[in-house]
This record gives sequence, structure tokens and C-alpha cells, in this order.
Amino acid sequence: MIEQPLTLPCGHTIKNRFIKAAMTEGLATPADNATTAHQVLYKTWAKGGAAVLVSGNIMVDRRYLERAGNVVVEDEQALAQLKAWANETHAGGSELWAQISHPGRQCPRLVSTQPISASDVQLNMIANFGKPRAASLDDINDIVQRFATTAKILKKAGFDGVQIHSAHGYLLSQFLSPITNKRDDEYGGSLENRARLLLRVIKTVRDAVGPDFPIAVKLNSSDFQKGGFSADECIQVVQWLNDANIDLLEVSGGTYEQLEFFQQSDQKVRASTQKREAYFLEYAQNIKKVANMPVMVTGGFRTLDGMESALKNKQTDVIGLARPFCLNPNFPNEMISQSLTQLDDVESTLILGKGFWGPTSSSKSVQALNNQCQAGWYYHQIEQLAQGKSSDENFSPRKALFAHFRKDFSRAIKRKFA
Ligand SMILES: Cc1cc2nc3c(=O)[nH]c(=O)nc-3n(C[C@H](O)[C@H](O)[C@H](O)COP(=O)(O)O)c2cc1C
Repeated sequence: MIEQPLTLPCGHTIKNRFIKAAMTEGLATPADNATTAHQVLYKTWAKGGAAVLVSGNIMVDRRYLERAGNVVVEDEQALAQLKAWANETHAGGSELWAQISHPGRQCPRLVSTQPISASDVQLNMIANFGKPRAASLDDINDIVQRFATTAKILKKAGFDGVQIHSAHGYLLSQFLSPITNKRDDEYGGSLENRARLLLRVIKTVRDAVGPDFPIAVKLNSSDFQKGGFSADECIQVVQWLNDANIDLLEVSGGTYEQLEFFQQSDQKVRASTQKREAYFLEYAQNIKKVANMPVMVTGGFRTLDGMESALKNKQTDVIGLARPFCLNPNFPNEMISQSLTQLDDVESTLILGKGFWGPTSSSKSVQALNNQCQAGWYYHQIEQLAQGKSSDENFSPRKALFAHFRKDFSRAIKRKFA
């Protein structure tokens, strides 16, 4: 099954069922442009045999980033670098799709002290995020247009598709969630209103890229937060997406406050979820019952059996994977040839059931440290691959944490003075 091609509603066929899910690279220049490091990284991944590589967050507005080091595409001034990135990915054998994104309130203070969101609900995490202002109707029109402009430029640069990021607590997901969306206009209140921005963005992007170009959407199966975007609401949004002319729906879950998509062994995983390995599969099963478009589930897939059975049982059409690409970029080829049936990941190779920081704990701050260590550790692996080196599994997670803070800080400062 995993080796079988899949034809998308727009008529485009992808060569097999492996898609690399988005991972923010942090490799852009201080002017937010793509570099040769992107080319090296994506060629390495492409040679591994996945049908599609989805880029990390490519931002639609230079003022608001998920992280300094994001690529920003607002105009054509760095088209040549984008073209080179797409060409190198194609030379390696994969397609390149761009994840286009706006962080909303999940924009670090070092990038903007006053981000923009659905409402002025601040993200209170280690004082790293400023209080956002609520987007005006003019801002909303501008945001919609930006997604379309970015998509059009990326298509021109040779990217093969786009993915609109509406998951993980970023701006479009902030509009969907009643916790962050307190508006009383046509973009807030009822679910229909909260989903209006996402549906407008999709329509405007479709108008900009034409009928044959793949458009994917990444959506939370749930925010996993009391009072947030719920699993039932997700099912309703998927029914609206059926009429929105998209080609692939990636199912994920969680936000910065509830990092569900970043599960690791120090978090309490229900036994049934562990057995299923892919932790959003139960939700995806319900989504599949109503979805007309192909579905991709990302999060936790690690065994060939688990992937094959999810495909066979029609719980998903595509297998999304992220972290394993940092450790063994060649695994899609190896799994297709069945020379590999089980992926190593850090849980099995490095920490053997411990958290990244050290001991496991139910304390929120220890969990936050573990998550930051984990992010830093994977950022380090991405940097290794982007320099043409192998992954470095023995790199200390604690060192990774400090390197991650130091580098993000220095990138943000360089950007300010660029
Ligand atoms: C280092 C790193 C960076 C990530 N960056 C992004 C991102 O830019 N956009 C996104 O939608 N998800 C991002 N994710 C989440 C992944 O796409 C994926 O949902 C998650 O890692 C679960 O899949 P996995 O178990 O196969 O790793 C990131 C994950 C990691 C480890």
C-alpha cells in the first residue's frame, strides 16, 4: 500500500503514500530568504523516496514570524533562491509543497512585541509572547490576500503545492478556537463565523493558483484544551471543507499550550493510543467518515505494520511523518523495499523512556523544558543535515536546549539589524 500512487482531486498524482510533514528549519537569512542550506536539506530528504516534502512554516507577513529563521514570501525579490530550493528537491526525486502560515499570537516577542490575533488573548508562556491586538476587518482582508500572494509566488518558483496551516494554535487555528476568538462580528461567535477566515483564505488561494495546483490544509482534530476547538467542531469544519475544493487534509492536534502533536514518552499516553502508535488515528477515523478529500494523518507513526494497517483500514490515505526524517532520511525507500520495518526515534534510541531534560514529571514546567529540549534537539539534527552531515544522535538534549535559545536569540537580533 505505502508504495501506491494517489491521485488528488485536482488531478495531480503523488508517487507514493509518504509525505514529510512540515518542520520549521530556522535556516533563512536575516532578510528571511531561503539559502543553499534549504537546498542541501531538501535534496537529502528527497533522495529518501518520499512522494512529497512539505516545507516548514513559510510566513506570509514579514512582521510576524513563528521564529526568526523562517522563510518569508511576500514578493518576488528572492524568487531565484526559491526556484533553486524547488529544483534541488526535484533533482532528489520528491515534490516540494510549501506550508504557508501566519503565527498570530504565537509570534515570539523578539520578532514582534505586539502580534495580531483574532482577539487580544495573550499566550502566557515563559513571558515569550506579547499581548496581541485583535485584527480589524482591514487586517483580515490583508491576511487573506497575503496567503494568496505567497501561494502564487511559490507556484511561480516551481513549488508543486501549498499547505495552508490552520492547526497547532497558529492564526487560522486561533480564529477557530473559542479560547482565542472572542469576536462578536462575522468572524467570531458561531463555528460558521470562526471558520469564515479559513474558508476565505482557501478560496482566495485557489483563485490565485488555479484548479490544477494541489492545496492541502493542516487542521487540528481538536485543540485538546477545555473550551477550545473540539473534535465535534472539527467534523463540521471538514464537512465545509468538502465544498472548498482542497486536495488533502492533514490531521494533527494541539497548540503551544497543549503540545499534543509533539508527544514523547514522558507524557501520559493512553494505552489504546500507544497500541495504535499514531495518536490522532481515532480522530482521523471519524474525519474519514465525512471527508470527501484524501486524508493524511501525522504524529507517531513508527512501524511499517502500523502504517500499512492504517492505510488498509482506510483510516488514512497518506502517512505523514516528521521526526524520523531527522534521524534516517532514507527511511521511505527502506520501508518501501521492506528492508526496514521499524523506525528508530529518540524515544527508543536516546532517552529510553526518560524525558529529554531528564526525569519525567507531571509538572508543567518540567514538561515545557522537555518540549523545548526536544525541539532544540531536532533543530540540531536539521542543521546537521542541512550542512551535508549525518544526524548526531548522541548530541546532548540539554546542550540542544541552550543552543536553541542562543541561536533563536541571535537570529532575531541579526534580523532586526539586517
Ligand atoms: C523540529 C520540528 C519542527 C516542526 N515544525 C512544524 C512546522 O513548521 N509546521 C507544522 O505544521 N508542524 C511542525 N512540526 C510538527 C510536525 O509536522 C508533526 O506534526 C509532529 O512532529 C508529529 O509527527 P511525528 O511524530 O512524525 O514527528 C514540527 C515538528 C518538529 C519535530
